[in-house]
Amino acid sequence: MSKTEENLATAFAGESQANRKYLAFAEKAESEGQAGLAKLFRVAAEGETVHAINHLKALGGVAETAENLKSAIAGETYEIEKMYPEFISAVEADETPAKLSFTRAEKVEEVHQKLFQEALAKLEAGEIVADGDYYVCSVCGFPSAGEAPEICPICGALKDKFKEV
Ligand SMILES: [Fe+2]
Ligand SMILES: [Fe+2]
Repeated sequence: MSKTEENLATAFAGESQANRKYLAFAEKAESEGQAGLAKLFRVAAEGETVHAINHLKALGGVAETAENLKSAIAGETYEIEKMYPEFISAVEADETPAKLSFTRAEKVEEVHQKLFQEALAKLEAGEIVADGDYYVCSVCGFPSAGEAPEICPICGALKDKFKEV
């Protein structure tokens, strides 16, 4: 990796994190009745997304869709098989929020992995991947195709916590 490629990777990671952090800050501002501040965070977050995607493209990190699916599957597989198991076994007994966050994410990554694998198989078979309805749990991220379940199978959240994507 050249110095610039390294810098692009670092900038991509930083801008990606800033995007999600600002969205979390916007949610907090909203809950405090600060709609104007919430919007300011969302405006900045949107710009950070533009930066992150530009850095990733300049790095050559966006290929054809079949390759992108393979890259996504590799990322999910790493998280399921190595990253989260190691992180979960390293949490201390009193670190409940961290353990819950890692455990739920790990379970959702298994669903992502399966969805991407099914999509790649269809793409390679020359079939169309249906443009269906999806709902995502706002508590744990679990994706549900077709309609939202009454109760999230991963975190137990009720149907009204699901957002249509
Ligand atoms: Fe995932
Ligand atoms: Fe959930």
